[in-house]
Amino acid sequence: MLNESNKQKLEELRKRYPTSQALVLPVLWMVQEQEGYISEDAMKYVAAILNVSYGHILGVVTFYTMFHSKPLGSHHIEVCTNVSCMLRGCDKIVEHLENKLGITFGETSKDKKWTLSEAECLGSCGTAPMLAIADEYYESLTPQKVDEILERLRP
Ligand code: FES
Repeated sequence: MLNESNKQKLEELRKRYPTSQALVLPVLWMVQEQEGYISEDAMKYVAAILNVSYGHILGVVTFYTMFHSKPLGSHHIEVCTNVSCMLRGCDKIVEHLENKLGITFGETSKDKKWTLSEAECLGSCGTAPMLAIADEYYESLTPQKVDEILERLRP
C-alpha cells in the first residue's frame, strides 16, 4: 500500500516515535497524500503495519475531518458553518452551493468534479462567511462570489 518512498519515511519515523501507535496520524497522512483518501483496505493495512487494531484506525479516520474515507472530487469545497460564519449568513452560501452543484454535505458530484464538506472554524472569522478549496481561502462570500469561484474552477 505505501510506496517505496513512504516505506522509507515510515522506517525513519519509527526511530523517532516511542510506540507504533504514535505513528498512526503520520502514516494515515502518508496514505491519504499517496492515494487521495483512506480506503477500508488502507485502514486494515495501516492497522497491520503498526500493530494496532482496525477499530482504532477506523476511529481516528472517522473522528478527524481532515481524513477522507471516500474518494473526493477534483475540487473539495469546505464550507465553514461555525458561529461567525453562521451569524454572517453561511446558510445562504451552503444553499446556493447545494443548488448549483446538486449535492449536499458529504457528497461528491456524479462527474467527480466537486465534493462539498462542512467545516469547523477555519480561523478566518473576521471575513465570514468563508470556504476553503485546496487550502485556499475564499472570504466575505456572497452567492455572486460563489458563482465566480465555481466558474473559475470549472475545467
Ligand atoms: S467561524 Fe467560520 S472561519 Fe471562524
